[in-house]
Amino acid sequence: TNKYVIDSIPGDGIGVDVTDVAMRMVDAVAELHDFSIEWRIRDWNSDLYKKTGRMMPVDGIEQLATGDGIYLGAVGTPDVPDDITLWGLLIPLRRKFDQYINLRPMRLLPGVKGSMPGLESLDVVVVRENVEGEYSTIGGRFGTGTPEEFALQEAVFTRKGITRVAHYAAKIAASRNGKLVSATKSNGIIHSMPFWDEVVAETLAEYPAVEVEKVLIDALAARVVMKPTTLSTIVASNLFGDILSDLVAGVAGSIGIAPSANLNPERRFPSMFEPVHGSAPDIAGKGIANPIGALWAAAMMLEHLGETAGAQSLTKAFESALADGIATPDLGGTATTESFADAVRERLS
Ligand code: NAD
Ligand code: IPM
Ligand code: MN
Repeated sequence: TNKYVIDSIPGDGIGVDVTDVAMRMVDAVAELHDFSIEWRIRDWNSDLYKKTGRMMPVDGIEQLATGDGIYLGAVGTPDVPDDITLWGLLIPLRRKFDQYINLRPMRLLPGVKGSMPGLESLDVVVVRENVEGEYSTIGGRFGTGTPEEFALQEAVFTRKGITRVAHYAAKIAASRNGKLVSATKSNGIIHSMPFWDEVVAETLAEYPAVEVEKVLIDALAARVVMKPTTLSTIVASNLFGDILSDLVAGVAGSIGIAPSANLNPERRFPSMFEPVHGSAPDIAGKGIANPIGALWAAAMMLEHLGETAGAQSLTKAFESALADGIATPDLGGTATTESFADAVRERLS
């Protein structure tokens, strides 16, 4: 039997609720499919920060580097600034482990209506650049206390960074319907986005079977809402991909169902799997968080580990619960996180 070492970081708020459910379901799947997971639970979160002034131990990265993967809930709490919590844990993990692909698939799930009237299908994968772009530390705040006060932040796009995300997205598009949309803003962002367009076009020239269409991000946002069935694979910069993935998930019914895989495709470092949503302070502690984003992310992790049958079993189980009308309040149902988990558990095969 294969055994995997997974570092689990439940984090803050509903991150704790949904990872708790997902780890139990993964263990149940493992038993049915003859593999096992050694979870190394890490209490790296905002409480640790309040106690120690750090979101993770000094050698946190070295500790995680010895595992087969990272499973994360969510990070962020209302009483600590987000730049401290996120830049103290989530963002450094993505960067130190060179998880330059953030893969965010979304489908209209069985029994789920979606937010747009008449929506019959939706099947979109957002391939988000995950380590550079608009998320940069270059810049600062100047002139504090003066009328001229300003904040400045540079975006950093590298040829290497754009090329590798474009290659990855091209392969995903080729494995789907051969159509790739590249999100851009080259009409208004004058230095970086024309460069993005150019490098995407050059890279895609190597994939004659993939048809690439560049779409300005503003019009693309409207298209996600109005004509989502015209979209299949989208490649986007870090910030555009962040926004698009919540938008697509919202159209498909709830951001609580959205999964993500932060991948280091070369497998030189562990990849990280997490729901797309955050710590949801507004519903934390109420026991009603939708665990699907976390479960689907766990299925992506099993797929990554090579446990394809286990991944399918998990996905089929939450889909079947939904098809039977069992859902949490964000999807219009009355299930709690726990009762939904029970329904999933009963349906694992
Ligand atoms: P959020 O995703 O936490 O919540 C947005 C809205 O969606 C809320 O109304 C919430 O109740 C709802 N929601 C989210 N997940 C849900 C689920 N599983 N089930 C049911 N409803 C769900 O976003 P936010 O409120 O903007 O951010 C809260 C905190 O989380 C902030 O500190 C933010 O920085 C952080 N955050 C962290 C991550 C991460 O760790 N990867 C991702 C996004 C936001
Ligand atoms: C996400 C989150 C993060 C991001 C935040 C919390 C920094 O929104 O994973 O989608 O923007 O990448
Ligand atoms: Mn986001």
